[in-house]
Amino acid sequence: MTAAIPTRAAPSGSEQDAPEEPAPIAGFEQRNRHFDRLVATPGLKWMGQNTNHMPAHPAVLAAMHASIAAGEYQIYAPPSGLEALRAGIVADLGLPGAVAHVTDGAVSALYHIVRTLLSPGDELVTTDPTWKWPVNFATEAGATVRQIPIYGAEHGYRLSPARLAEAIGPQTRLVYLVDPNNPLGTAATAEEIEGFVDVLRARGIYLIHDCTYRDFAFDHHLAARLYPERTITTYSFSKWLGLAGLRVGAMVGDPGLIARLAAAPPNNLGSSLIAQRAAVAGLAIKAEWFPAVLAANRENQRRIIAAAESLPGLSVPIPRSNGNFLVFETAEDAPSPEAICAALARRNILIRQGAYHTPAFGHRFVKISTSVPAAWADALIEALPAALDEARKAPAGGKLF
Ligand SMILES: Cc1ncc(COP(=O)(O)O)c(C=O)c1O
Repeated sequence: MTAAIPTRAAPSGSEQDAPEEPAPIAGFEQRNRHFDRLVATPGLKWMGQNTNHMPAHPAVLAAMHASIAAGEYQIYAPPSGLEALRAGIVADLGLPGAVAHVTDGAVSALYHIVRTLLSPGDELVTTDPTWKWPVNFATEAGATVRQIPIYGAEHGYRLSPARLAEAIGPQTRLVYLVDPNNPLGTAATAEEIEGFVDVLRARGIYLIHDCTYRDFAFDHHLAARLYPERTITTYSFSKWLGLAGLRVGAMVGDPGLIARLAAAPPNNLGSSLIAQRAAVAGLAIKAEWFPAVLAANRENQRRIIAAAESLPGLSVPIPRSNGNFLVFETAEDAPSPEAICAALARRNILIRQGAYHTPAFGHRFVKISTSVPAAWADALIEALPAALDEARKAPAGGKLF
């Protein structure tokens, strides 16, 4: 149920008796109400935002409880993060010589980097699909955005150095590379990373290497190893450790570059201490805990792929996903992605329509997140045939975000 936002005072004169037009609901209000409804939905199976729903390690829960018991919510954290966490992030990436600045999730690092490095007239280059928010941040900063289409078998669902080189122009100041790519699940090879870096170094262009899904990859290569002077690696605890609601991540790079970014960050009073204690504890148990999470994610993917491939109208173009998600491609005669999402939503399963990521290719796919309990994967597999049938008959319905 959506309520209208407060309307202006009743007009005077004869108009007073006219039925009042409900004020249009602003887009951000609609979006917020949508997510407010989702968080209030009991038993919702969150398979649309690549969040991680595996049970947390007890040490991570204990660290949060200890922080609350000690009243740490009453104080500010160090502005660039707990030293133990900063060191832990750099060690986890294996980037000696780099430094970390802890942020309120990776997204606030992305916001800050884009807004600091880009001025009106500059250009951001990224792929299509990409993670859309840095595109919006760049546009708001007055920069232009060039997206290189990578969706489709003709591109192998990946970016090549040659196509990056072609796209770069005189105004290009920043490249945003989501690797592994969300939503596609492709990851750049060592040769591709070398090729990208050669292109960027020749022009002094900055690189954001968004490594949010790195831990789910079969193989991953950090551009910062080859191009430390202008690469900023963004890091998230939301996905591998399952701390999306706590908002903790980081930007990592050359000390001079991070010093510049740390001069006036939006989280100057530090990020949540409870979140940082959980993250420190998470890094300590990562080697023991994460392999089972990854194995469960891949097993869910294996079963979900088999189910999708057996259904008319669906295919899985990137079955070897380097992320905790899969893309289902919808054939021309299949129901729309929005109708499939709506039919699954009626069964309390949240997946995501491609249009969230890309207006150009969004009508061709849905995305399913797989770092979830096996029972959720079972529920999806069981629901899919009837949901597809229903989606063929029913239009998409309400707006999705
Ligand atoms: C590619 C990418 N980068 C960054 C983020 C945001 O991460 P965080 O939750 O750490 O802000 C997401 C979240 O979905 C993402 O997909």
